Amino acid sequence: MEGDSLSAASITDNLETHFIGQRVVYYPRLTSTMEMAKREAVRRGAAEGTVIIADEQTAGKGRLKRIWLSPRGNIALSVILYPDMAYLPSLIMVASLAVVHSIETVTGLKSQVKWPNDVLINGRKVCGILIESYVRGNIVDYAIIGIGLNVNLRLSDFPDILFTATSLSDELGREVSRLDLIRQLLVEIERLYLVLPTGGSIYEEWRDSLVTLGKRVSVKSGKTIYEGVAKSVTIDGSLLLRHPDGSLTKIVSGDVTLCE
Ligand code: BTN
Repeated sequence: MEGDSLSAASITDNLETHFIGQRVVYYPRLTSTMEMAKREAVRRGAAEGTVIIADEQTAGKGRLKRIWLSPRGNIALSVILYPDMAYLPSLIMVASLAVVHSIETVTGLKSQVKWPNDVLINGRKVCGILIESYVRGNIVDYAIIGIGLNVNLRLSDFPDILFTATSLSDELGREVSRLDLIRQLLVEIERLYLVLPTGGSIYEEWRDSLVTLGKRVSVKSGKTIYEGVAKSVTIDGSLLLRHPDGSLTKIVSGDVTLCE
């Protein structure tokens, strides 16, 4: 998209946040924003809310040690946070709701969350979220929210993921301003993150935005595959799966395939 080149200044300029995105470190090309964010976060060296963003990642990281395809035209960013331990499980809720809200505000498109970390449009993945944290005892050294959003990507150029992924431009039939999306995303992340210490809950909204609930699913968690109906999610973000014999399993993290 013309006029959609990124820079730290274009992101931070008059950004309506207190701390998220007030410092942005921009790279045209980087291995992974997660790796750079981790380096910056060591010993809390970077201010909370620092954003590492890259136009292109050469070794983008997905969940479960997968590679994340991260060509130009997409959004790849990581946000450094220093939350209390109690809020760690809520970060995935903050990030996924911020993505859903921002997509809708900037493009009008409706998206849904697939437990635990994906955002889908019309059943296809438009965004992947990776949360990494370093905890010592009861203290969170840092947490990093990584967001990879397919924005101006022609999926026909990527046959391997053509049927499972989508992009905002493919959905809309036109390109989308990455800058508008990034700025909106940062505002939303801060707004939702600041709800946590007030005792307010974003859990209900997150639960209601899940496409997974009520569906027959297969969940791979470590080496185990569970099958059943996704019944609900707990306040700490775990999935409750009901098996055919009526028993329930609580799954903390895993990879879900929707069976219907
Ligand atoms: C997944 O769906 O497996 C999660 C993908 C997360 C990708 C983002 S892109 C920005 C940040 N940097 C990375 O290397 N990964 C995350």
